[in-house]
Amino acid sequence: MKIVSTVSEVREIVKEWKKSGLTIGLVPTMGYLHEGHASLIRRASKENDRVIVSDFVNPTQFAPTEDLESYPRDIERDAKVCEQEGADVIFHPTTEEMYFPNATTFVNMTGPSEELCGKSRPIHFRGVCTVVSKLFNIASPDKAYFGQKDAQQLAVIKRMVRDLNFDIEIIGCPIVREADGLARSSRNVYLSKDERQAALILHKALEEGRKMVLCGETSASVIKKSISDIIESEPLAKIDYVEIVSFPDVEKVEDIDGDILAAVAVYIGKTRLIDNFITENGKEI
Ligand code: PAJ
Repeated sequence: MKIVSTVSEVREIVKEWKKSGLTIGLVPTMGYLHEGHASLIRRASKENDRVIVSDFVNPTQFAPTEDLESYPRDIERDAKVCEQEGADVIFHPTTEEMYFPNATTFVNMTGPSEELCGKSRPIHFRGVCTVVSKLFNIASPDKAYFGQKDAQQLAVIKRMVRDLNFDIEIIGCPIVREADGLARSSRNVYLSKDERQAALILHKALEEGRKMVLCGETSASVIKKSISDIIESEPLAKIDYVEIVSFPDVEKVEDIDGDILAAVAVYIGKTRLIDNFITENGKEI
């Protein structure tokens, strides 16, 4: 496995692979890899001849008040995970390599990027769409892998690929959790012992909501109220949003019919965590 830091190195490697008729899977990440990322890399290795993992903390998706500086980084550990899961190349560029100092072109989206995290993080999806477009152009993958942990991001990327005619198949992968239900996240390292315990409330509340949908409750506001009440019972938790939207269009719904995404963003202390569930026509997926 190779670690490369320039766009031209990736292009050279990709050119050779394509000459040999090999298929390429791309797994975009911001590093500090955990079992959630590993599951994506594993799946990409199974379904493609070659796998590129990008490992880049993308500044354009962070607001000035957010955790760009403190976001955890450990490329050596990441390299071990990638190697173990069958990646062939890690693309680990500097910010200067990824962005020209006077770059003025960005990918802006309306629609699926505007609800949920789009409300509390207004520039976030512009940064995500821009960097993912650049990665698609650099790595020219056949398939790219994204986790349902960031379900809105998955919907946004699918919409972008459709709207901009990227010839890339987007594969959504299930949420990987700790044994006690907490969704794996690079940001979980920010949590103190008490906060780590308090963070379980996200999954607990969503499980209750999911049960309500599966038992036939069709009022989004009734389900949202129940999820919010459970989260509010935890003193260390502060709700950013509790929302139910259609999936993958990410439009607010009042009556649950068809595929829905129930998503929450909650501050546990200073750490903002997200989690969700998706049901198809009131059934589990
Ligand atoms: P990052 O948060 O590092 O996540 C990289 C990928 O791993 C995303 O597709 C995310 O959904 C997936 N992932 C994270 N935790 C997961 C879990 N517990 N189970 C399953 N998948 C999980 O998402 C980003 O980086 C960035 O926004 C990026 C797309 C790389 C653009 O900068």
